[in-house]
Amino acid sequence: MQRIQSEKILLFFSVLCLSCVLGQVSYSVPEEMAKGSVVGNIAHDLGLDLKRLKSGKARVYTGGSVEYIGLNKERGVLFIQERIDREALCGETTPCALHFQLILENPMELFRVTVEITDTNDNTPTFTNAEKRFEISESAVIGSKFILEKAYDSDIGINGLQTYSLVPTDNFILKLQSQADGSKKVEMVLQKPLDREKQERISLLLTAIDGGESQMSGTMRIFINVLDANDNAPAFAKPLYKAKILENSPKGTSVTTVSATDKDIGVNGEVSYLISTSKRSLSELFHINSKTGEIILVGEIDYEKAKIYQMDIEVVDSGGLSDSTKVIVDVVDINDNNPDINIVSKSESILEDSPPNTVIAMLSVNDADSENNGDVECNIDGDIPFKIQTTSNGFYTLITEVDLDREISSQYNITVTCSDEGVPSLSSSVTLSLQISDVNDNAPVFERSSYEAYIVENNTPGLSIFTVKARDADWNQNARVSYILEDSSFNGVPVSSYVSVSADSGVIHAVRSFDYEQIKDFHFRVKAQDGGSPPLSSNVTVKVLIQDQNDNPPQVLYPVQTGGSLVAEMVPRSVDVGYLVTKVVAVDVDSGQNAWLSYKLQKATDRALFEVGLQNGEIRTIRQVTDKDAVKQRLTVIVEDNGQPSRSATVIVNVAVADSFPEVLSEFTDFTQDKEYNDNLTFYLVLALAVVSFLFITCLVVIISVKIYRWRQSRVMYHSNLPVIPYYPPRYSDTLGTGTLQHVYNYEVCRTTDSRKSDCKFDGAGSQNVLIMDPSSTGTMQRIQSEKSILDEPDSPLEVGHFVNLPHNDYIREEKTFTGLQRRRR
Ligand SMILES: *[C@@H]1O[C@H](CO)[C@@H](O)[C@H](O)[C@H]1NC(C)=O
Ligand SMILES: *[C@@H]1O[C@H](CO)[C@@H](O)[C@H](O)[C@H]1NC(C)=O
Repeated sequence: MQRIQSEKILLFFSVLCLSCVLGQVSYSVPEEMAKGSVVGNIAHDLGLDLKRLKSGKARVYTGGSVEYIGLNKERGVLFIQERIDREALCGETTPCALHFQLILENPMELFRVTVEITDTNDNTPTFTNAEKRFEISESAVIGSKFILEKAYDSDIGINGLQTYSLVPTDNFILKLQSQADGSKKVEMVLQKPLDREKQERISLLLTAIDGGESQMSGTMRIFINVLDANDNAPAFAKPLYKAKILENSPKGTSVTTVSATDKDIGVNGEVSYLISTSKRSLSELFHINSKTGEIILVGEIDYEKAKIYQMDIEVVDSGGLSDSTKVIVDVVDINDNNPDINIVSKSESILEDSPPNTVIAMLSVNDADSENNGDVECNIDGDIPFKIQTTSNGFYTLITEVDLDREISSQYNITVTCSDEGVPSLSSSVTLSLQISDVNDNAPVFERSSYEAYIVENNTPGLSIFTVKARDADWNQNARVSYILEDSSFNGVPVSSYVSVSADSGVIHAVRSFDYEQIKDFHFRVKAQDGGSPPLSSNVTVKVLIQDQNDNPPQVLYPVQTGGSLVAEMVPRSVDVGYLVTKVVAVDVDSGQNAWLSYKLQKATDRALFEVGLQNGEIRTIRQVTDKDAVKQRLTVIVEDNGQPSRSATVIVNVAVADSFPEVLSEFTDFTQDKEYNDNLTFYLVLALAVVSFLFITCLVVIISVKIYRWRQSRVMYHSNLPVIPYYPPRYSDTLGTGTLQHVYNYEVCRTTDSRKSDCKFDGAGSQNVLIMDPSSTGTMQRIQSEKSILDEPDSPLEVGHFVNLPHNDYIREEKTFTGLQRRRR
């Protein structure tokens, strides 16, 4: 190729040979030819033969500058002696030529030689800097120009710098602008906006291209750093945030954190949060950390005030771009409210006879908490007869469960406790005081089912005997007991004439003085009645037992003490020692010790002849009767009872000691009336036997009857024609006079002439009523001592032991006679 090139050049030079003649020759060679390369056959071109060259000592003269071209005298050619760089030799000067002379000696000849150096594309376009950096804001407008560096190519002409290219062309295009010097201004123009958020760094390659046979290029890297612009608004991650917070959470509790992102960086990406809701209440409750977006509780949360909070949160970046979101905070209830109990209405007291389910109070119960925390249940504390019922939405009624009884409990403290179902549960309670009002539902109750009271006879009227007491479980007026004597009669006498009852105190007073010998006991009923309306009452039997006092002296029934005529017992002189002369029969209307009689011989004509049985009053002989003994014997027997003090009576017994009536008659003239009787002795014996037998059997029956039946039976006995008629000594009086009683006793004499008939005569004085003054009492008392009243009196002392056998006059006489007959037969 080199060779072909030189052939061409040779051809070209031969055309210029004309000038050769003129002694001047020009050659044209490309630069950068290899050393030794032939430039041209100068010998030929100058028309010189080789010998001449030798002889002429041909040489190249450059005038001192570098000899790029040498002369080969042998061949007569010029050759490249030094590397020729056109750019170094001429720079941008064109054309570029080497001028030198070829000098010959002998003769001296001078030839001008011009070698034109032609350009070859041996230089690449180059940039001064391998890279260039730009910082471009992403907000740069389209059309913005950025000047780029020009490349330099030392080749000229076609081989010089031709054009540029820039890749990639996404955002920028290259703009070349020709300049006056022919060079070009290289610019980069923004044709599409930058977005830092998409591509922060852009790398471009600028290539400079030259022309020529083989194009060469140089490159430069362009680095663009896209600067951020605040082109992005901050954006919240969520359009709505939901959070929950427990009520009563402490201040400083984090509620939630909102977060917004800003794609910008640096200052442009800095955001701050704020609560945009203008409500004061919200800003007092919540605070947002403007940097972190954390919402913090700064106030007190009360579920009962607000269950939900809504707030708008705004985020702003430094450029003022903003976004907003909503935060909904649900307040979670905690059990922080006790149930609230209100008494809607209540009764202070109810009647004890109120039926079950009587409403006492109405309560309304509220709990401000929600759900379980606000579900309330109420109960009554303790075991009391009430229950609580719920009606509807928080209303409760307190009612009685069973029948109440004021007497069991007159007052109740009803404590109602309401508790909610929270965990832990909260409760509150209220205490209602309920009075149970009394209803007269309890009758007075006597302390005992019956009473027995004792009173000693001869009491002073008005004496308090006893006190009955009844209690009433009710209250106040309903329990105010008054005592009332119930109307009844005892033996036909109204009981109110015996006793009176003090209405207030229940003290029973004797209205009159009692006589044991008339009435031994009686009973009546006392009613206790309360002051309720209607009143309730109960009654009790009070039995009053009258106790005996020794107020009656013994009464001698036999022998009968007649006033005028004298009765005498006859004792035959022939009788043995211990012969029963007679028996003193006495009775004491008192009872017990007071009626226990003893007999003593007080005075006797001859004390040695008779004795009196202490207990039985039998008068017996204690020695043989002699003829010396007086016919007429007079014995005074004293009968004493055993009372304290004891009372006594004396009786005079006349005894005739004689063998025959005539003998006696001389002494006792009154005995004549019995003569007729002796004549009928036999008849009387038979009769007496029958009567004695009959009486004995009858008496036995009577004793049994008396024991079995009560006093009233004795009345029957009296009416059964029994000839039991006591004899009473006339005007018999207390001989001792030592008794405390100042009564004067008058007895009626009742004389019997026949065993079957009673013929009573009333003594003038005795038949009258005698007014007796009792000095120990202010009251007066009438006492009728008539035979009739005594006999009618069922309590008359018929029952006294030895009195049952009370013989009447005939009986005693017959028995005695009978014994006498027996002895005579013997
Ligand atoms: C009820 O409470 C009152 C006063 O708190 C007290 O005096 C009374 O004894 C209580 N009653 C009962 C039955 O507990
Ligand atoms: C007395 O009480 C009894 C019961 O204890 C009663 O049966 C009777 O009727 C009462 N008598 C009067 C007169 O009230």
